[in-house]
Amino acid sequence: MENNKNNLLEKVRKIEQNGFSKISAESRPVYHLSSPMGWMNDPNGFSVYKKDYHLFFQYHPFSNEWGPMHWGHCKSKDFIKWDYLPIAMAPDQSYDEGGCYSGSALQEGEEHILFYTGVIDHYLDDGSHNYSQVQCIAKGDGINYKKYQGNPVITGLDLPPGSNIKEFRDPKVWKEGTTYYLIAGNQDEDGYGQVLLFQSDNLKKWNFLNVLDKSNGEYGKMWECPDFFSLEDTQILLVSPQNMRAKGYEFHNGNNSMFIYGDYNNTTYQFKRKKIFSADYGLDFYAPQTLLTSDGRRIMIGWMQSWDAKFMKDFLNWSGMMTIPRELQMKNEKIYQSPVRELENYHKNLIKYEQCKITEAVTLEGIKGRVIDLQVKLTEFNFHHFTIHFAHNKEYEMLLQYNHKRKCLTIDRTHSKLLRDIVCRRKMDIEPILEEQKEILKLRLLLDKHSVEVFINDGEKVMTSIFYIPMEANEIIFDTDGTASMDVIKYDICI
Ligand code: FRU
Repeated sequence: MENNKNNLLEKVRKIEQNGFSKISAESRPVYHLSSPMGWMNDPNGFSVYKKDYHLFFQYHPFSNEWGPMHWGHCKSKDFIKWDYLPIAMAPDQSYDEGGCYSGSALQEGEEHILFYTGVIDHYLDDGSHNYSQVQCIAKGDGINYKKYQGNPVITGLDLPPGSNIKEFRDPKVWKEGTTYYLIAGNQDEDGYGQVLLFQSDNLKKWNFLNVLDKSNGEYGKMWECPDFFSLEDTQILLVSPQNMRAKGYEFHNGNNSMFIYGDYNNTTYQFKRKKIFSADYGLDFYAPQTLLTSDGRRIMIGWMQSWDAKFMKDFLNWSGMMTIPRELQMKNEKIYQSPVRELENYHKNLIKYEQCKITEAVTLEGIKGRVIDLQVKLTEFNFHHFTIHFAHNKEYEMLLQYNHKRKCLTIDRTHSKLLRDIVCRRKMDIEPILEEQKEILKLRLLLDKHSVEVFINDGEKVMTSIFYIPMEANEIIFDTDGTASMDVIKYDICI
């Protein structure tokens, strides 16, 4: 079947063009990707195609609520400036009329191939409900994509016994030699999350190989949006489990994203899990995926929102942002994340303070703003608490507070103009590091109007959060209940 259903794609492309032109650039973040109009969730198809970085996303342009999923589309040369492109896919086929769910992309020769989940969702004449999730492909030239006539390429019939055919989604595809591999999230017969591995030599016919890893209840009910890649000698399975219970400060209730470190044998297809860490310790981070750049960098991008606190939709005529793309590196057996180095090309107006001693609340001349890269290095720790108040004015503020006794960092948006009693605080464990035999703690805050990403100790851990504080609240206050010493660097980010 051709892409049609009354030319749905053409119609939504027109609607998008029209709607997008009515949204002011002012309402958008400066260097983070935001939804062109309406609702955006997961990043999809993050890939290099003909030297550009392409990013698709889960998209419902008709409202600020999640709805039948389309694939929105944009591209960039440097991960910072994004050009919006016309919608790539609409749910216009019998096998995806319930939505074109998340997936990945690959360049093959001249073609850009998309792998996505089609949601089959319709009522039959006898009144029964036909619902399942199947894997599909579409091919294109970087702007227009055509769904494969033989779709779906993987259905419930291809799954191992006991697998839930209603919870089977988010294919990630890669190539080794001449063979393609695909992993997808699924749920086993006990209702626990698992990742299934398939193999193909033509992208059209896929064979199930193995369950790569699974939850036994301790890591959630359904594993969404898997990705699989190596960093140095470690193989990483990145998944986003649903319905988890909090585990100390490592994981919170509900949806989490986690790095599973392990060993992978690519002849027996066995993945042996070694340890698991959260991918982000803030309030708004989900469904990340990665790509590999031509210079060998593994870059991760995530949806900067949480399913449980979707409050931004009430304020603007678009909803949904992506994180800054982050470089992943394995150091001391840990994954470090740092904003892509391309961001530094947009640094302006450096202000710098060295060995600034504080014993009470202070502001520093020139250190303020809402679109900034703020780097604070603590070098003296004679205190219980050290606090950075940012996006601050008399009424509102965000807080980042370090408790030295407990070695714990808290992000807090309680006073950020919220009208709903949603989750406002998240804590995480973090130790100072040693530099020339001295303890230091590094906090790098990337602010972009209504979001903050805090990279701690060069990205050993990250906390991401969105907030809706009016832009005039732009002060930054440093405070302590003892004595702290710090170096501070601030750049404006100008695009
Ligand atoms: C994750 C997710 C995916 C699914 C998509 C639907 O946020 O639930 O598993 O493909 O969103 O929009």
